[in-house]
Amino acid sequence: MKHETILVLDFGGQYTPLIARRVRECNVYAEVHPYTLSIEEIKAKEPKGIIFTGGPNSVYGEAALPYDERLFELGVPTLGICYGAQLMAHALGGKVESAATSEYGHTEVDIDKSGRLFGDVSEKTIAWMSHTDYISQPPAGFRVTASTPVCPVAAMEDDSRGFYATQFHPEVMHTREGMKMLRTFVRDVCGCSGDWEMGSFVEDTVKSIREQVGDGKVLCALSGGVDSSVAAVMLSKAVGKQLTCVFVDHGLLRKNEGDEVEAVFGPEGPYDLNFIRVNAQQRFYDKLAGVSEPEKKRKIIGEEFIRVFEEEAKKIGAVDFLVQGTIYPDVIESGLGDSAVIKSHHNVGGLPDHVDFKEIIEPLRMLFKDEVRKSGLELGIPEHLVFRQPFPGPGLAIRIIGEVTEEKVKIVQDADAIYREEVEKYDGGKYYRTLGQYFAALTNMRSVGVMGDFRTYDYAIALRAVETSDFMTAEAAQLPWEVLSKVTSRIVNEVDHVNRVMFDCTGKPPGTIEFE
Ligand code: XMP
Repeated sequence: MKHETILVLDFGGQYTPLIARRVRECNVYAEVHPYTLSIEEIKAKEPKGIIFTGGPNSVYGEAALPYDERLFELGVPTLGICYGAQLMAHALGGKVESAATSEYGHTEVDIDKSGRLFGDVSEKTIAWMSHTDYISQPPAGFRVTASTPVCPVAAMEDDSRGFYATQFHPEVMHTREGMKMLRTFVRDVCGCSGDWEMGSFVEDTVKSIREQVGDGKVLCALSGGVDSSVAAVMLSKAVGKQLTCVFVDHGLLRKNEGDEVEAVFGPEGPYDLNFIRVNAQQRFYDKLAGVSEPEKKRKIIGEEFIRVFEEEAKKIGAVDFLVQGTIYPDVIESGLGDSAVIKSHHNVGGLPDHVDFKEIIEPLRMLFKDEVRKSGLELGIPEHLVFRQPFPGPGLAIRIIGEVTEEKVKIVQDADAIYREEVEKYDGGKYYRTLGQYFAALTNMRSVGVMGDFRTYDYAIALRAVETSDFMTAEAAQLPWEVLSKVTSRIVNEVDHVNRVMFDCTGKPPGTIEFE
């Protein structure tokens, strides 16, 4: 089924996927493509609107990106954000210059409420700025609709031609009223009715998988995380026992997690599928011995995972289809090229070379995380599974700074289990739902402490808790002291080799959510 579509053209911005995700929150389907997508392809997609993203380049000078001038002749409402705004200004005859100092962070913006995007936005609002270049003069036909003391054109528009631009980032959560602006753009300006719903998506997908698979055999690597779980249940709904799920326990899971996954997807669980658990813990510990560089750890785990999976697949023999729990941010992050790579994600690009299959099925390829969760609920997967915190593929290895050993895994597992238990108990189980992600990590720092009458020289545990809905930006949560002190006391008392507990107050940016 074809949906009303907003095209997000990526110029290399860090927040590109977020823009598409915000548009989808307005029940409007959005697709991300590189800015080099040809005009013919753009037209063929019949977009209701286009958004130009931010990016690291300047619109002038040698490093300027070559763009097709016909982008501005499509007659489709277009919103430029940050670099996209500057490009619009530059291409249509305005002036973009470099400022002496960058404008970065939470910024108060004066809004002209008569601006088409700003009808329901406050006259003074907080927006997220991140730029050095600025629009010093809007093109003819444009009027300024927002400004800050150092940014004369924080927003501009030419409503008659359907051009809108914001220097700030309406898509990031730090921009308090950004969602209102984006909603107004896609629903009012572009006229989208909101035809993107998860219920019908699940129904259509199960049906089309059934047709595609026929009586073929299907193999799925199940991690127990939300994505692969939803993909597996979708497949099991579509083709039942034609599906075999292989669950590799790499020894870097949270405490008791392997058994929990087995309880749900194994023979005792509610689903109609074949389940194989591989206990490969020692193999991973051996491969990780002596390695402390984060990217190297990720690589080793990703590669070893594939090897283990291949060995299992070999035992099963040839299959027709391989299921991958790829979701849209993976597709965007691995495919678009120009934005700086912050860290590699092991669940992308790691296809097994030696598994005998004919085709890949990626039922969640077009979905963002929140959409995967909604699909999970539509499929009747229990809430505690659907709303599990994200857990990275490389697991606890990237929550242990430095070398990973079995002993350190045990320390971080125990500390993390206590932390999660206390957070989840607080306020009758209501508080933890406000958190995006919370976990314990093992720093590589050891320090002197005193326990009873003895000197100790043990590890420090770091606690992390962030509020985020998109995982691309996050604020450190203000965890109640009551919880922190209880957790601290329990960890130092109950977990061997820990004598200190710290709380990480860093947001993202400038931090990342994980430690490595
Ligand atoms: P960062 O640390 O990049 O995390 O701010 C953002 C989100 O991604 C998860 N994450 C990963 N997931 N493989 C994964 O499957 C990885 O290598 C990886 N690194 C980070 C992280 O838990 C958070 O939800």
